[in-house]
Amino acid sequence: MNVGFIGAGNMGGAIAMAVRKSVPHAKIYVAEHNADKAQRLIDTVGAVACDVQNIAEICDFVFLGVKPQTIRTLLEEISNISSRKEDAVYISMAAGVTLETLCGYLGASPVIRIMPNTPVAVGEGMTLYACSCGVSPAQEKDFLSLMAQSGKVDSLDEALIDAGCAVAGCGPAFAFLFAEALAKGGIACGLTEEKAISYAAQMLYGSAKLLMESEKNARQLREAVCSPGGSTIRGVQSLEEHGFGEITANAVQKSFERTKELG
Ligand SMILES: NC(=O)c1ccc[n+]([C@@H]2O[C@H](COP(=O)([O-])OP(=O)(O)OC[C@H]3O[C@@H](n4cnc5c(N)ncnc54)[C@H](OP(=O)(O)O)[C@@H]3O)[C@@H](O)[C@H]2O)c1
Repeated sequence: MNVGFIGAGNMGGAIAMAVRKSVPHAKIYVAEHNADKAQRLIDTVGAVACDVQNIAEICDFVFLGVKPQTIRTLLEEISNISSRKEDAVYISMAAGVTLETLCGYLGASPVIRIMPNTPVAVGEGMTLYACSCGVSPAQEKDFLSLMAQSGKVDSLDEALIDAGCAVAGCGPAFAFLFAEALAKGGIACGLTEEKAISYAAQMLYGSAKLLMESEKNARQLREAVCSPGGSTIRGVQSLEEHGFGEITANAVQKSFERTKELG
């Protein structure tokens, strides 16, 4: 299987790493403006440097890892390549850019719109996807095989992908910000930076696992940690007094609105 990546920055690079683990025998081709990023990926996943035209001619699956602001230029370029492989599946990760827009440039080519996140790089990603009507069941199955080692992959009605993006795609930045803030508090209480960030990271990881595996919901799990008069409830009260829940929900809505603008 030939798999191409056009744009191999943070997200494209993370998916390329997952694809390498999922399908070790796949040939991976990379077209990337930035020579350092391209070389890093070539060294990490054993990819071959290529250009857009070659990728369009030889690849069965083509991941488009460029920014929403530049994807139309790239789509225009691809649509003008008369020798491009007819049945290649194009996979766009561009936030907000709809299947209608993508198919408008790519014609009859099968197209999958995905919304991944950077934890894909360590096999713990959350990727949402929607297929154009040109994607056959066999192609969808192959796409899922490529993503097998990326973490969770969920088919979602395209109308909801931007909402999913605001939680799962943008969410890692919110989680890292929270980790930084937890560590800052720990340092203020006397921990070293190294220990504070490592405790925060393991705590977030374990809490996420517990939330996914427990029969209890997030509120019930939170309440189970908060004994009356204890230390946790004091911290939770402080977060609530400062509007933590509302601020976080508002951040998701802001990201959602921006995703819509990017399309
Ligand atoms: N980062 C995330 O957490 C995340 C999550 C979900 C979805 N996404 C989506 O993933 C896409 C990529 O985001 P990113 O954060 O990975 O961006 P990024 O780090 O800036 O990577 C994009 C790379 O593509 C290169 N590029 C642009 N046009 C190209 C072309 N025609 N040929 C070859 N290389 C080209 C860019 O080089 P130049 O800058 O030199 O042009 C850049 O190095 C975006 O559409 C974004 O919406 C990102």
